[in-house]
Amino acid sequence: MKTFHILTLFPKMFEGPFSESMIKRALTNGLIDIKIYNLRDWGLGKHKQVDDTPYGGGAGMVMRFDVLSNAISNIQLTISKLPKSGVRSLKTILLTPQGEKLDQKKVRSFSSSKFTDFILICGHYEGFDERIRDLVDEELSIGDYVLTGGEIPAMVLVDSISRLIPGVLGKEESHLSETFENNLLEYPHYTRPEKFNGRKVPEILLFGDHKKIEEWRKKEAETRTEKKRPDLLS
Ligand code: ADE
Repeated sequence: MKTFHILTLFPKMFEGPFSESMIKRALTNGLIDIKIYNLRDWGLGKHKQVDDTPYGGGAGMVMRFDVLSNAISNIQLTISKLPKSGVRSLKTILLTPQGEKLDQKKVRSFSSSKFTDFILICGHYEGFDERIRDLVDEELSIGDYVLTGGEIPAMVLVDSISRLIPGVLGKEESHLSETFENNLLEYPHYTRPEKFNGRKVPEILLFGDHKKIEEWRKKEAETRTEKKRPDLLS
């Protein structure tokens, strides 16, 4: 079982995405666990301050190292006290556009890794004190664009890792032919009606010749990968 420990200033952002569909079911069935920690709980003073102005001047606020460090230490302590069914193994990940870019290969490696616990740190404001980088195992980006914070990237990570955990998806084999497995985009799908507004389902799919269908799907997957994502083939 994998447990995701998410450190955030906005715990409520996770309520919707984790209470629907596959992730909800994975939680209910005990296939994964998600714990949300409010960084504000480690904030300083009356106002529970978590950020401060940057040394050297400049715009924006920076998340404080002492606050983040205390939060991470506390979460690590909490994890070490969780009931064990076997060894627990922890990976601490910082979500940042400066991190290594997430792809399906990386998702797969996380999903099948020995790690039982992931601490996901969601950055905010202009950034975080650089010293936080010394406390994490890895920095991850979900793509070359900048979001308002690390919350959505953390959701992306939880979702993509979780769906590869055996039992989370309905059908075990359903991710073997999907997009990005074997470096190919997935073949096209069709369902009823056979004909609608002049648009027809490819005939080959209608006759139940499974060998032919398989060949056709393989070829379609290759053709569309060449056309849409030639970078995957090189
Ligand atoms: N925080 C802001 N933008 C991000 C991105 N693209 N990936 C990960 N964390 C982020």
